Amino acid sequence: MSKKEVIYDEALVPSYQLPSLLGKGDGSSVASTGEWLSTRRPEILAIYRERVFGKWPHRPQIQWYETLSVREDALDGEAIRKEIRIHLGSAEGKTHSFDMLLYIPKTATPEHPVPVFIGLNFRGNHATTDERDVAMTGFGYEKNQYLNDEARGNSVPRWCFRETIRRGYASATICYHDICPDYNDLSCFRHSVLSILESTEDLSLVHRNYTAIGLWAWGLSRGLDCLESEVLVDSSRCAVHGLSRLGKTSLWAGANDERFKLVISTDSGCGGAALFKRCFGETAEIISTAFPHWFVEAFAQYRGREDLMDFDQHFLLSLIAPRALCVASATEDLWADPRGEFLAAKHAGDAYRLFGLSGIERDDMPAADEWLTGDVSYHLRTGKHDQTPEDWAHYWVLGDRIFQK
Ligand code: GCU
Repeated sequence: MSKKEVIYDEALVPSYQLPSLLGKGDGSSVASTGEWLSTRRPEILAIYRERVFGKWPHRPQIQWYETLSVREDALDGEAIRKEIRIHLGSAEGKTHSFDMLLYIPKTATPEHPVPVFIGLNFRGNHATTDERDVAMTGFGYEKNQYLNDEARGNSVPRWCFRETIRRGYASATICYHDICPDYNDLSCFRHSVLSILESTEDLSLVHRNYTAIGLWAWGLSRGLDCLESEVLVDSSRCAVHGLSRLGKTSLWAGANDERFKLVISTDSGCGGAALFKRCFGETAEIISTAFPHWFVEAFAQYRGREDLMDFDQHFLLSLIAPRALCVASATEDLWADPRGEFLAAKHAGDAYRLFGLSGIERDDMPAADEWLTGDVSYHLRTGKHDQTPEDWAHYWVLGDRIFQK
């Protein structure tokens, strides 16, 4: 398919065949978890590293955490609040840092540390909370229009810190721009965390190997490293979540870092949970034109040629198995193709069933606001492209089940 009008009509979806998740070159199928883990999963991961989101960098040679502030009486006395600077460095002395905001319920003790949600934010840590003394972040992106007091708290419903804390979870966030600024061109890498890991002189070389989504996801793993040093947090029970481009990111983080035990994508759409081959809403061509830095150069071969893909996004989701996966869509978010998100989640079930777990065992999409709560979870929230308290309601229930609270 070449670029033409965006398809929003199910009748116009081209016919396509989904590549088989468990199929092997010789016509047989992967039949055991051993074969999945030793052969098929690494093959799929390699496809995504080489042709979609790029390499997963090694851990930095130097990594340390600086506590910038602690409040014992946060959220009206219900939480401990910390602002922590995560410092990363190379042996040659290059450094990069970003700040994590962390809320921990006051009920947490070293004997009973709490599970934790972590996700990146778009606007700055100060936008996620109604506490006005949280330091502004998001300076990595010069054009960030939310670096002002008016922006304080303007994303509170996306984060729901108070309710998350009341339910016994810690919650952490980092502004994605501070890991890699989201400039719509390759220059973003020069100002990103990649500059401590690789030379960023030759941007076309960088584009062959790295992407902003890859770096954001890797940054989430560094956030989790930091959580491992928090005695009141049980980092072995960690959920990663993200909205939209940051939902693509949470999926990629979950694919690479098996410490994330619950992986949630909200309205992640094209390049996230939605199947490319349906070409419904945003397509490979549209997204890689608008956001060249989100995909490696090799991804360009699929612009208007989804038929050439020997993978689709059920492959990406399968990399989360056997850990818990939740895909969320919104009724009015057709750009992100809710049906394509549902179908990818459903087809990822083949990997879960290998482990004796359940996938989505039905063909029809659930009604709006009905939750499919299993090892592969899904819901279609009524409303627009966003992450809302209604989405969180499902995530808390999943967390309660998975983390056995
Ligand atoms: C754009 C883009 C989407 C992305 C979204 C977002 O709409 O086309 O792919 O998910 O931005 O991140 O908000």
